[in-house]
Amino acid sequence: MDKLVIEGGNPLSGTIRIHGAKNAALPILAASLLAQDTVTIRNVPHLLDIDVMLDILRDLGCSARYADRSVVVDSSLASSSHIPESLMRQMRSSVFLTGPLLARFGEVQLYQPGGCAIGERKIDLHLRGLAALGAEIQEKGSLIVCRARELRGTEVILDFPSVGATENIMMAAVLAKGRTTIVGAAREPEIQDLQAFLNHLGAKVRGAGTDTITVDGVTELHGGDFAVIPDRIVSGTVMVAAAATRGDVTIEGVQPAHLTSLIHVLRRAGVQIEVGSDIMAIRAAARTKAVERVVTSPYPAFPTDLQAQVMTLLALSDGVSLMKETVFEGRFKHVEELCRMGADIRVDLNNAFIRGVPQLYGTSVEATDLRAGAALVIAGLAAQGRTTVEQVHHIDRGYERIEEMFRQLGGDIRRESNKTLEAYHAR
Ligand code: EPZ
Repeated sequence: MDKLVIEGGNPLSGTIRIHGAKNAALPILAASLLAQDTVTIRNVPHLLDIDVMLDILRDLGCSARYADRSVVVDSSLASSSHIPESLMRQMRSSVFLTGPLLARFGEVQLYQPGGCAIGERKIDLHLRGLAALGAEIQEKGSLIVCRARELRGTEVILDFPSVGATENIMMAAVLAKGRTTIVGAAREPEIQDLQAFLNHLGAKVRGAGTDTITVDGVTELHGGDFAVIPDRIVSGTVMVAAAATRGDVTIEGVQPAHLTSLIHVLRRAGVQIEVGSDIMAIRAAARTKAVERVVTSPYPAFPTDLQAQVMTLLALSDGVSLMKETVFEGRFKHVEELCRMGADIRVDLNNAFIRGVPQLYGTSVEATDLRAGAALVIAGLAAQGRTTVEQVHHIDRGYERIEEMFRQLGGDIRRESNKTLEAYHAR
């Protein structure tokens, strides 16, 4: 298992370009199953989750070639609709394949993806939406079998704007008979990108980015060539790291409109942010100020995927802040690790009360999930002394070589492989 070794204290500075969005590429790769012809998807980040998705597509009979951040998928020879449990458990986003497989084959076998470090991660909204389109759902323990002789358009009402459920229902509806209306849909930019991709292949989807999405079913989708949007969460992570290290960083190839809520919070903390059409400059010459109340909520509100990172900044800010997590029930696993670095944070249910301290101190910490790990890297970059972050594979699921990204900005950070540990276990 790799670990990251960080010597804290360097203010980040310089310019960086952000890779493509993991959470746009994953559903778009799943949707390539719907295309009759070859699909090229560009600006696809080289991440663990992407590799798992490509392995699943290959397991289903597709050809999927990844080179220079582009993926070429030919699903014409796809024959299986059974998602292997091992791959399902490795990445819950494999649930995105349910809609396309149901639309393509009329049947799909999948497994309850199971919870993870941030929460139960149920899929009841996915299954209820697919059932509304005419799928028959059978649950046998953790195995779920969905069958549909025919998918018919209907009105689907989501009682929570689930990102994955919205995307699964969209993908199932593009080949259904008639019109589907998704009421209470999630509004994330990644859903807008999925709509753009599906329409590029000949689908008729409208309304993504609002809470009502309409899909008029078509008989088939052709191939295409599509580039996914930049990763707003990776961009936001770099912005917070620049603020926490009192740096001066420019981010290129970003869509500032996707980060309005984070920009608002950082400006309230006293961070200077200049915004261009696809560029942002972040400067924090002095210690930031506490922000009275930050609440995570579905887009366009403050994103849960930046909660841990901003908590690290608030742990160093002058004053007391409240961070409220309303999307996932277990997304405070980073608090204990931050407190081991000297942070003063008290958790009460889904509220974290953060009293800023002048300094964090390096020590050995453990990443528990993707964004908690990123928050600990930011803490290490800002801390006094050396921090080692263990379980880096969590971070590699969503950040392309995070150490290279921050080293490019002047951070003293390197990756060490625990060969000794692997050698020990391999003896
Ligand atoms: C997507 O997950 C993202 N993942 C997550 O990013 C992100 O945190 C989340 O949306 C919220 O923005 C991808 O896009 C691959 P949800 P998803 O369905 O679709 C409950 C990251 O760090 N729920 O909007 O799984 C669920 O338990 C990851 O990149 C149900 O109850 O999120 C959770 O509490 C982490 N039933 C809430 O809704 C369902 O059927 C939000 O889940 C589905 C969800």
